Amino acid sequence: MGAGIAQVAAAQGYEVSLYDPSQPQLDRALSGMRASLEKLVSKAKITAEIRDRALGSVRVVRTVGAAVEQATVVIEAVPERMEIKRSLFEEVDRLAPAGALLGSNTSSLSITEIASCVRDPARVVGLHFFNPVPVMELLEVVRGVRTSEETVDAAMELAKGLAKTAIVVRDFPGFATSRLGVAIGAEAMRMLEQGVASAEDIDRAMELGYRHPMGPLKLTDLVGLDVRLAILEHLHREIGEQFRPPAILRQLVRAGKLGKKTGEGFYRWDL
Ligand code: CAA
Repeated sequence: MGAGIAQVAAAQGYEVSLYDPSQPQLDRALSGMRASLEKLVSKAKITAEIRDRALGSVRVVRTVGAAVEQATVVIEAVPERMEIKRSLFEEVDRLAPAGALLGSNTSSLSITEIASCVRDPARVVGLHFFNPVPVMELLEVVRGVRTSEETVDAAMELAKGLAKTAIVVRDFPGFATSRLGVAIGAEAMRMLEQGVASAEDIDRAMELGYRHPMGPLKLTDLVGLDVRLAILEHLHREIGEQFRPPAILRQLVRAGKLGKKTGEGFYRWDL
């Protein structure tokens, strides 16, 4: 998602520094960004000038320090594991300017807990984007217990700058979106386990019967099975039994079938 966030920010006129410790991941981010911008130009959603400006405004950097030392906004999009988020925020706290807004693109983890490892938790806020980031309009702004009013205001301004529509939610597991999203996804997986219908037909039912743009199993492939498993495990611990991850999801993740990004999940995808 980091690539999508970087793309949107660059297309909207921000100067972006993009960091990832893995070079193949950075290569994938840049090629995905090019393909997405091309698609937007071909659909006349953006001009060729905006595409070129966006590509020229993303600077790939080799260290966290280089990414954040001059930043006014830092947006973290690392895997959904609290220890990884906290260790990155500790580093960013040391290296970013004191006035920078620190945002986490977490889907469900506690912003209050992430913020508790930085010196000034008032400047930490949840900035939850949606896949595919260049297309989806929503930005969920999550207010932690110690997030200041100024930080929430700055996050709302940022949403405007990124041409997203923001909602503000309290820091509660699963926020306003992931909780409902994974509930439908997990129920679809249990229905598949119980042989209610094929994956294709469960998806078709929600696409044609409820006008969801994409059925819940295909959507899980798009988001990443590992991402959805991490969210479910967290909500199972925090909220209760209704979020117990289905066995089929655990099995597919163990087999490395993580969805579109690995070429297979509930469906097969061309890489
Ligand atoms: N970059 C640029 N444009 C893209 C794109 C991308 N990555 N992906 C799709 N598009 C554009 C296409 O150009 C197309 O534009 P037009 O409407 O002008 O034709 C439009 O999006 C539709 O694309 P497609 O025809 O290829 O496919 P589609 O009609 O099935 O739409 C979709 C694809 C936009 C993904 C749509 O199926 C959809 O909205 N699905 C649901 C997505 C969703 O629920 N996302 C939230 C997931 S949860 C999450 O992300 C949060 C989390 O924390 C994990």
